[in-house]
Amino acid sequence: MTNVKEKKFKNLIEKINYHNDLYYNKDNPQISDVEYDALITELKRVQKKYPNLLSADNPLNKIGGKVSAEFSKFNHPTRMLSLDNAMIKGDVENFLKRIIRFLSFKDINIQFSIEPKIDGLSVNLIYENGQLIVAATRGDGLNGEIITGNVSTIKEIPQKLQINSPPKKIEIRGEIFITKKDFLNLNKKTKNQFANPRNAAAGSLRQLDVKITKSRPLKFIAHGFGVYENGKKTYYDQMMEFKTWGIPISPYLKVANGIDELLKNYNYINDKRSEIPYDIDGLVYKVNDISYQRRLGTVGKTPRWAIAHKFASETAKTRIKKIDIQIGRTGSATPVARLEPINIGGVLVSNATLHNFEEIEKKDIREGDTVVIERAGDVIPHILNVVLDKNKKRSKLFKPPKSCPVCGSSIIIDPDEVVVRCSGAYICEAQIIGGLKHFVSRSALDIEGLGDKQINLFYNKKIIKNYSDIFKLEKNRSQIIDMEGWGELSFKNLVEAINDKRRIELSKFVYSLGIRFIGEKNAQAISQAFKSIDIFIRFYNNDQDVKKDIFNILENTDGLGPKATGSFREYSEYKGNRNQILSLIEEIDLVISSLKTVKSPITGKKIIFTGTLDSMSRAEAKSMAEKLGAKVVSSINRSTDILIAGEKSGSKLKKANELGIKIMNEESWKKLSKS
Ligand code: IVH
Repeated sequence: MTNVKEKKFKNLIEKINYHNDLYYNKDNPQISDVEYDALITELKRVQKKYPNLLSADNPLNKIGGKVSAEFSKFNHPTRMLSLDNAMIKGDVENFLKRIIRFLSFKDINIQFSIEPKIDGLSVNLIYENGQLIVAATRGDGLNGEIITGNVSTIKEIPQKLQINSPPKKIEIRGEIFITKKDFLNLNKKTKNQFANPRNAAAGSLRQLDVKITKSRPLKFIAHGFGVYENGKKTYYDQMMEFKTWGIPISPYLKVANGIDELLKNYNYINDKRSEIPYDIDGLVYKVNDISYQRRLGTVGKTPRWAIAHKFASETAKTRIKKIDIQIGRTGSATPVARLEPINIGGVLVSNATLHNFEEIEKKDIREGDTVVIERAGDVIPHILNVVLDKNKKRSKLFKPPKSCPVCGSSIIIDPDEVVVRCSGAYICEAQIIGGLKHFVSRSALDIEGLGDKQINLFYNKKIIKNYSDIFKLEKNRSQIIDMEGWGELSFKNLVEAINDKRRIELSKFVYSLGIRFIGEKNAQAISQAFKSIDIFIRFYNNDQDVKKDIFNILENTDGLGPKATGSFREYSEYKGNRNQILSLIEEIDLVISSLKTVKSPITGKKIIFTGTLDSMSRAEAKSMAEKLGAKVVSSINRSTDILIAGEKSGSKLKKANELGIKIMNEESWKKLSKS
């Protein structure tokens, strides 16, 4: 056996492992399937010829080729929530005050559970009759991906709960992570494949080849559960019960009352942080009493009853190479500092946001300056301050550009905002690309395999120039499969992922268009103005009667402000946009899903509260009414259906009497809301 052969063998292995990593771990293949198969065939040939050649990382011993199966989607029985952050003491105080106010308590003495916030990945474990039947990633909180096979390789997660009469069904949530020590060892083995433990846990868990997951040192700690009717009265007791079932819980779990005790624990854990075997980025405080948790409920994706108190961020010094201007989806011009790359807390940072031009002026930030960069959690790193060196000549003051660096349109300064904006709304390529990226992004259509990178690529190759092109990708089949990093399989997967998203709910559609000021909530409100898809199409066919009607409804829609309606009007009046929407509609199946209606006596009714309620705060009453399907309004008029009058009701009660609106007192409201 010659050295040349051995070298060739090693090179081949290295090359295949490199492409396996791109394919399996980074979802970013750089060679076509045909090229990949050729490498494998070559390796098999060499191995057959020289059976004595051995290598620990020979991919042929590890995987049986690429697996084309994808992870299937899973609809979480109860939404997986995320947490709001508290950065400073004041944020924690406000969190406590909000809870007390919401529950209408006089006493501030509420008990909280405390646990470290582990920097890992959350999973939902579904046990039926004590048996693990599904494990799924968090995904967007509503839908995740099924990774049962992978999770089943984690020794710490029991396949069967250690309990004689287990609940019929329970969702146990927690964090999957890798310890700091295991991460260092793993990175030695995988030649620094991962940037940090979280990344390593993610790369290890989301493996189509379960054997790879099995070989990785993944750990688990529970931190919550879905709806559980026969549960304990407090979070703490529930976790203790889980522990007896064989579920790992945090060894640092504690309870505490009031701000002082919370902060004492925070400082204690912060000091101990380096001794804790895994990465944590703060503490999580949760109202301990489950019945209070239920009353407090959620606001969007986050519960009112829990908060993450984050540890202070990490900082490092580096030099600004250059300041660039980035044009966002809605034209906002944001300055970005391009840095000499620097490692901050395990993450390589090469860009920092400068927020806006006022910030640059205030901190007097210039190209070439040495600066202190701060990185906290997942937020984009930013510049804290400039480190001045008297002996060094600085570059000139940085001035906002007069024209857009992408399309050349003039830059305008919005009088009510600090934002500087490119005026080329529908012609600026940066805005068009930004719009396309938003359209396919997770919160919008969520097309798997079509992210920022692919949009940039397809836009530059003129394959995707507008929304409808996305659905006509099949046309460019031969061009795409010949492109570097693409092949038959990846193209087929992409087309399938796109076809999967052809049926679109109207409100999601409106949101996906990425119109300025139209977030998910406003998109919902706007879409409700359209009683049918036919009306929506007529609206975009410029039917004047329909338009008049719709704008009239929108202007009178509670919760839709003039900025949102104005922006929607401006967008819809532009012929280019209308045409784009019409051709997009030809490609998709637009639907208005029948709203999940809760049946209650106040479903669909407009109700208004006035005066003080004895038994609950206004906020709790409002959230309860919304849960029952009512719409809570703030001003009274003929369209209001019910007025709920607490004590000391004044002018609104009088007006309701005058208008003949149904009036309810607190007693009947309480009966109704508990029914
Ligand atoms: S509770 C009720 N507790 O942080 C909210 N989350 O930003 C559900 N996390 O997605 C989360 N440690 O992945 C909770 N002790 C802990 C946690 C924790 C880490 C993660 C979790 C969640 C994210 C929320």
